[in-house]
Amino acid sequence: MANDDQFKKVISHAKEYGYVFQSSEIYDGLSAVYDYAQNGVELKKNIRDYWWKSMVQMHDNIVGLDASIFMHPTTWKASGHVDAFSDPLIDNKDSKKRYRADVLVEDYCAKIETKIEKEVKKAAKRFGDAFNKDEFLSTNPRVVGYQEKINSILKRLGQSLEKEDLADVKALIEELGIACPVAGSKNWTDVKQFNLMFGTKLGASADTAIDLYLRPETAQGIFVNFLNVQKTGRMKIPFGIAQTGKAFRNEIVARQFIFRMREFEQMEMQYFIKPGTQLKWFEYWKEERLKWHKSLGLGEENYRFHDHEKLAHYADAATDIEFRFPFGFKELEGIHSRTDFDLKQHEEFSGKKLQYFDHEDNASYTPYVLETSIGLDRMFLAVFSNALVEEELDNNTTRTVLKLPAVLAPNKAAILPLVKKDGLPEIAKQIVEDLKWDFNVTYDEKDAVGRRYRRQDANGTPFCITVDHDTLEDQSVTIRHRDTMEQKRVKIEDLKDIIKAEVDVKHWLKKMK
Ligand code: GAP
Repeated sequence: MANDDQFKKVISHAKEYGYVFQSSEIYDGLSAVYDYAQNGVELKKNIRDYWWKSMVQMHDNIVGLDASIFMHPTTWKASGHVDAFSDPLIDNKDSKKRYRADVLVEDYCAKIETKIEKEVKKAAKRFGDAFNKDEFLSTNPRVVGYQEKINSILKRLGQSLEKEDLADVKALIEELGIACPVAGSKNWTDVKQFNLMFGTKLGASADTAIDLYLRPETAQGIFVNFLNVQKTGRMKIPFGIAQTGKAFRNEIVARQFIFRMREFEQMEMQYFIKPGTQLKWFEYWKEERLKWHKSLGLGEENYRFHDHEKLAHYADAATDIEFRFPFGFKELEGIHSRTDFDLKQHEEFSGKKLQYFDHEDNASYTPYVLETSIGLDRMFLAVFSNALVEEELDNNTTRTVLKLPAVLAPNKAAILPLVKKDGLPEIAKQIVEDLKWDFNVTYDEKDAVGRRYRRQDANGTPFCITVDHDTLEDQSVTIRHRDTMEQKRVKIEDLKDIIKAEVDVKHWLKKMK
């Protein structure tokens, strides 16, 4: 299936099966704002819990926080967001459409990358088992040429943005002959910076109201609470503070479904460390976070690191963990070495000391910070799009199945009476009553059992449990596995352990070790 078609299927499946709805749909929706429906909210919660457990529960030196969305407005002056949290935008004069100038250039490079992938596929077919991908990528003249072109474009873009040379960003777009994706026109305005923060007001009357911002990242709530947590929790460096919560950005290029939203959720962890140790911790958290992703089994080939050419105003090293979304490799998580920038800025703007006294060194210092920051909605899209597959079956039919990692699936099991009579629904409902203390389970008695299996496959439910007439005699049921479609006869009393073995967080997180 072409990637575009696959992505359209993902969006419509998310709606049809109660995962994600367009916000305010009856009023034609609100651009780049989405609601999570009955299944989506469970999947999202399970992803959040999986992250929280790996960060907070599994580390005795990382604690949680839930800071407010509203913060004192000086926070954003200190953090640099008022002056520097902006995107370079460009308008097409003919179509009147507005774009992020850097995204136009990156999309151009992604097209060259697609050409490389095509060459690799062709060569793999030609050479068969003898094909060596790494050797091909480093020696094939056409592919090497493509890669050099990408590198030089991205280098120039990074340097121009770094120097705030917006005229050169426009020149690059013109030199590459990039056209408006809607109108095909190359009639561009100059590139201008546009601040992404949403403003609002606090207070009853217009003359006393204070201007506030909706937070564009959760991280600042952690920085301003650093000393409170360190002192009350008697934390010793290195230690971390983890937080999940909403963030808001007035994204101009808001497309690609829940990939880039105006209201979204982040899962961030700031790790406070001794100055000078930041590179060691940068490498450590790169590996740790990649292991977390891989533990979910979405395919090792679907991840890669992308080191930043252009560093944010606060960072001395930064990388993205990119994931292969249906529209190509894109940022899923950022890992940033933020130095002591934020704490120093808050010290300066608040006039309060934010220092740590190190008993071993008998000295005070401003800690450095290593940050891991992942978008919960983006992680949802990674998991959901990777899970949705269409399978050809032996009997020449196809089935749509959502192969969500069992630990994340909204419902762990569906309990199905074979028929709606003879006491089978009563037994099935009793199984629901017993299992619901441990797992989210659902009951379904409508339609033939084969159709119910298909419905649960498409919903992502890892197990179907069917109660039939033999159950009346032997207290056994048939348990069907979503991915293998294998069916087994098991005792009702064993169901809890069988399900637990596959959906338990411990079973999945242990893969990180
Ligand atoms: N505190 C650092 C920070 O906010 P970021 O790279 O701007 O860094 C971190 O954002 C993560 O938040 C990204 O890797 C992405 O997963 C997610 N994210 C950022 N903007 C988003 C948006 N508009 N919609 C959905 N997720 C977004």
